[in-house]
Amino acid sequence: MFHDLKPLVNSIIDSNDTTESKLQKICELLKSKIAYYDWVGFYFVNGDKKELKLGPYAGAPTDHTIIPFGKGICGQVAESNKNFVVPDVAAQDNYIACSITVKAEIVVPLFKNGKNIGQIDIDSNTPNPFSEEDERFLEYVNEKVAQIL
Ligand code: SME
Repeated sequence: MFHDLKPLVNSIIDSNDTTESKLQKICELLKSKIAYYDWVGFYFVNGDKKELKLGPYAGAPTDHTIIPFGKGICGQVAESNKNFVVPDVAAQDNYIACSITVKAEIVVPLFKNGKNIGQIDIDSNTPNPFSEEDERFLEYVNEKVAQIL
């Protein structure tokens, strides 16, 4: 599955769209092709503030358009620079609920020139759906995105 998705990601990256539109299409691609990806979005560091700002996303609108560093899964990844896989969101103390249907989440940081400038965030309504293959694939997506930022 991920193997077949990579060329589709590449063709979006290489297209003539705006960067904003490319990121939007990547979110929609991942959400539509991966059954257990129910919300897919990018957050980016908001200028020189210690907070994340929501970028393009696919799925239900969220109130959490700004997330301070350290808060929730996303805010923790902004500081740790490490992938965060949450098989069961109910077991997390430092978690920001976007929807009661969400059971699991994965957040993978996005590096540009070695700097953590944002992340891709996936919510799933399926419990414990993520494997290392998701991590490797999302790292690939972020590396591609970093090239156009
Ligand atoms: N659940 C995230 C907040 C963002 S929403 O999932 C879109 C968190 O705990 O950081």
